Amino acid sequence: MAFWRLGMREKILKLFADNNTVLAPDGWTLLRGVDDPRSVVEKILCGCDKDDLPFPVDAKWLQSYIAPTKSEIPTNGSDPSTESAVMMVKVMHDITGNSTCTGELKDFVTHFNNRYEKLRAILSKRREGRGCLDISVAKKRTGKAKIIAMVGDMTETRNGYKILSLEDGKDKIKGMINPNSPAYDKFVLEDEVIIAIGEVAPKKKQYQETFFIDDIIRPSLPRHGNNVSKRGIEGKIAFIGDLHVGSESFMKESWSKFISWINSEDTVAKDIRYIIVPGDMIDGIGIYPNQRDDLEISDVYEQYREVARMLSEIPDRISVITIPGNHDIVRNPEPQPGLPEDVQSMFSSNVLFFGNPALVDICDLKILMYHGSSITDLADIHPNVSNEKPTTAMIEMLERRHLVPVYGKKTPIAPEEQDHLLIDEVPDIFVTGHIHRCNIEEYRGVMLINSSTWQEQTDYQKMRDIKPEPAKVVILDSSSKKVSIKNFA
Ligand SMILES: [Fe+2]
Repeated sequence: MAFWRLGMREKILKLFADNNTVLAPDGWTLLRGVDDPRSVVEKILCGCDKDDLPFPVDAKWLQSYIAPTKSEIPTNGSDPSTESAVMMVKVMHDITGNSTCTGELKDFVTHFNNRYEKLRAILSKRREGRGCLDISVAKKRTGKAKIIAMVGDMTETRNGYKILSLEDGKDKIKGMINPNSPAYDKFVLEDEVIIAIGEVAPKKKQYQETFFIDDIIRPSLPRHGNNVSKRGIEGKIAFIGDLHVGSESFMKESWSKFISWINSEDTVAKDIRYIIVPGDMIDGIGIYPNQRDDLEISDVYEQYREVARMLSEIPDRISVITIPGNHDIVRNPEPQPGLPEDVQSMFSSNVLFFGNPALVDICDLKILMYHGSSITDLADIHPNVSNEKPTTAMIEMLERRHLVPVYGKKTPIAPEEQDHLLIDEVPDIFVTGHIHRCNIEEYRGVMLINSSTWQEQTDYQKMRDIKPEPAKVVILDSSSKKVSIKNFA
């Protein structure tokens, strides 16, 4: 996105991001109270030693350059000394302000080429990735070979052979899987990138340009786990799930119980430093047929005002980290940017907004946040995936190192030049929402959390046989990586 099209807050965040740091919320609180904050920041960045820029840039550091009078520093009534404890959120990946997509056909070609190249790089680092041939080279030979390919069309013959089109950007070959080969039971999706291990067929008329696939290797995760022994710094992170404010089914009583608890002297509540909301802060309007009949608040901006009011009851010392979901006001195709600036400005400064998906580093843990729309797509077609247990879908995403491995179903993709839906960096924690089920599992050292909701089962969900597990808060102790669930239903 062109710089001039960004909102003021985004422009300022970009200026700091371009200098390898981030702006703490109390820094933004300070800057939005000065005249022409962008010029102020540009002057500061010009005048300071870039190597000495702190991470994050907070109000205290900025004050040494701005030197405002006390009345110029809005604090939202909070104590700045407690706010500074909340700020250590390092953004590692976020589409917000970085969209390149125009939706043209050429964008899809670039997007899928980028996906192939990045997954090829991941697969090449695997032990099995050594010695892989380009398809054009393999085709000139016969006998054993390995290729790294994106899977195109798939069909099945009458006698049970699977036929796959294998492509590597320069050439393609027909892949064939015998029903007795180990590859047969590995459920392959169109567009996934694999190492195909097998044999180039003899140059006979009936086998022209055919590759018999014996086995299939996926990008997956490191074999012996993702640094299982890694621990974060002290502090607890609460994953509270989809809020769906504005819906008649929003659970006000349960939310009140949660707010009482988070403000209480309870030892666990007092130790919570971050709250994560993986999308669907509001119920939105027109998301499903006749949704208007299920709404208590029928204006999206009023819905966001109500969420902002509710989240303002969370103590200022806690950073609330949010991403959008399919019920929020941003574009539906993924990746989705963070909420627009006019919505963000309704919220307290301890509420932070990122895109969907986003990778952040908090408490020294890499946390991948994705709303989870593709979970239902995977459940529809993959025999091992169910909506009842969304971690089954999350495992399939990690195996393919992609958050939306099914293309052309219900989850639309924006064809960005860089594939932001790729799981390039292996997270310590992977969190999704969307399904409204509270489900936790560890997979090869990655903690998988599908968080709950604050919405009771709607008629639409009854019709689709979606059974929510609402008002459950997942609490992660970042130093021990132990997880517990607190029920507010
Ligand atoms: Fe939701």
